[in-house]
Amino acid sequence: MICILLVAGHGTLLESHIKSDQSGLYSFLEDVPKALLPGVGGKKILDYWWKAVNTRQIFSEVYLVTNADKYKHYERWATANDFPVDNIINDGTTTYDTRLGAVADLELAISSKKLNDDIMVIAADMLCADQNFDMAQMIKFFRLKGGELAIYYEMEEGESVSSRGIVEVCPESHRITRFFEKPQHGETSSRMASVVFYCFQRQTLLTLETFLSNFPKTEDRVLGRYMEWLINSAAVPVYGMKLPTGFQLIGQVGLPDYTKWLAHYSAVKSQPRVKAITCRAYARIGIIGNPSDGYYGKTISMTISNFWAEVTISESKKLVLVPHPLNDPTEFGSLLDLHYISRKEGYLGGLRLLQATCKKFYQYCSEKGIALSKQNFTLKYNVNIPRQVGLAGSSAIVSATLKCLMKFYNLKDDDLPKSFQPNFILDVEKEELFITAGLQDRVVQVYEGLIFMDFSRSIMEEQGYGNYIPMDGSCTPPFWLAYLRDPSDSGVIHNNVRQRWLNGDPEVIEAMTIFAELTDKAKLAIEEKNWKELGELMNRNLSLRRSIFTDACLGPGNLRMIEIAQQHGCPVKLPGSGGAVIGFCVDPQKMVELKKSYQEAGFVFCPVVPYCPKNAGQNTGAPVSKS
Ligand SMILES: *[C@@H]1O[C@H](CO)[C@@H](O)[C@H](O)[C@H]1NC(C)=O
Ligand SMILES: *[C@@H]1O[C@H](CO)[C@@H](O)[C@H](O)[C@H]1NC(C)=O
Repeated sequence: MICILLVAGHGTLLESHIKSDQSGLYSFLEDVPKALLPGVGGKKILDYWWKAVNTRQIFSEVYLVTNADKYKHYERWATANDFPVDNIINDGTTTYDTRLGAVADLELAISSKKLNDDIMVIAADMLCADQNFDMAQMIKFFRLKGGELAIYYEMEEGESVSSRGIVEVCPESHRITRFFEKPQHGETSSRMASVVFYCFQRQTLLTLETFLSNFPKTEDRVLGRYMEWLINSAAVPVYGMKLPTGFQLIGQVGLPDYTKWLAHYSAVKSQPRVKAITCRAYARIGIIGNPSDGYYGKTISMTISNFWAEVTISESKKLVLVPHPLNDPTEFGSLLDLHYISRKEGYLGGLRLLQATCKKFYQYCSEKGIALSKQNFTLKYNVNIPRQVGLAGSSAIVSATLKCLMKFYNLKDDDLPKSFQPNFILDVEKEELFITAGLQDRVVQVYEGLIFMDFSRSIMEEQGYGNYIPMDGSCTPPFWLAYLRDPSDSGVIHNNVRQRWLNGDPEVIEAMTIFAELTDKAKLAIEEKNWKELGELMNRNLSLRRSIFTDACLGPGNLRMIEIAQQHGCPVKLPGSGGAVIGFCVDPQKMVELKKSYQEAGFVFCPVVPYCPKNAGQNTGAPVSKS
């Protein structure tokens, strides 16, 4: 790939403003070309562009196209900045009226240097709010799409669309469907502005000549017109990638524009950066419904604030994932200690979850054309969700990591829609880590609160995710939770329900239908606060579960926990895949007795505290604290 930096424009208006400025503040900028004016951060505008493209791994050559009037300025700049002077192309023009136009300048570079490669073109006299972008990611997206690539940004309030090339972009394919060069008011509602920052495929550049012969007038020979022609008339596929930054000083601008935007961008940049972002995701209990591993059923689940995973992200020099001292041990007291810990905890800590989430996140953004700024970070995590008792600890770590990454890179809900986030989290676990799981835990951890989920086949096949309905979490009966102290000894045997379901086993299929019916009834019972009914439904869910999963699969620990609740006449069921049970007691005295029984039998017991944020179902990953 070759990069061409265009700086051949004649900044006539800006120069005349500087000359006639009475304040004397800008006299040192007299005659200085636009690209060599100070940019955000103090260095010259061109310095930042040169830094961004000066990588041999990406660009085999970088060229600079200037006009004859300012050629000397650039020559001087080149020798001071290790830019090859031979790669400066002089287009021979000295005035605005005799200018060639950017398309002809580009063509001049290609023909005079006999370039025969894909080309990135940038107007290197644009002022950019934040130049810390990842060129490698852009080029990757360009190659992936196999079409032309245009960079665009979202205009700020107060910027006028009639000064830019405005694009309409298909959210799924990222193809630019329409291009409006300096649209009139009302022509498009889009505020996405394309700037001279494109990647062209070698063969597409052959159309430059056709364009130039079709458009002999200089004022038409701007790259915006060329793009408009490529997209609207020639129907060449052009894809868009959005950068989280702004661009200014495009075309003829005056001194007030320059000073205003320089001050604005500098102020934004010098705002103290958020040092660390911490996000939580909570454990959940399944209140009723079918197991979620793709049986097209319905369930009701709730996040609980008893247990959570917490992930913190902060900007750092290097990219670091910090191992958790307890969950990712690397030092041991002795070989005996190592044996004990490995036997009890296994080998799978949380670090792999962070790593897999980051990997998938980068992949997702690269495929979706979401540009990420090029900064390193440190991720660390903590979790107090008991392990191996089916309270969704792993997916909580992944969920919290995703929230952190989205905040850190400033992704909006448009970039990764909330309804799709559970699928993303599930993919991290399934595709990267081969964890068998379903959507339901991820849905409730993303939406938070008490959530009714409908995964009916028709809905899933149509939209790729279920219908998720937030319910009023303030009206639940007093749930409690009991779980095994040492789940590694639970003796749970692997079940074959999934296989039977895939084989179309009528007993399993029937059971899944009943689970869905129970869920609909439970939804009503909760809305009507009919706890007697809800208790019966939960008990029925449990017996149904026992009938198809068999008691042998549940293991003695789970059976004992179920028995204790039943002896106290409390509704009981498993809230997850095993290792814990939930139920509720309306009578507080009974709760005390129940607690005693569980604790005496060696189980851990706690009253459930629902986690139902006020705007449950609406918010996405609000950080719980900033420092
Ligand atoms: C990120 O870290 C690597 C080394 O771990 C370093 O080479 C690179 O320059 C860093 N990137 C940024 C943008 O700081
Ligand atoms: C109800 O029982 C099913 C299957 O027997 C079980 O897998 C499921 O997790 C239970 N429902 C909930 C919400 O826990």
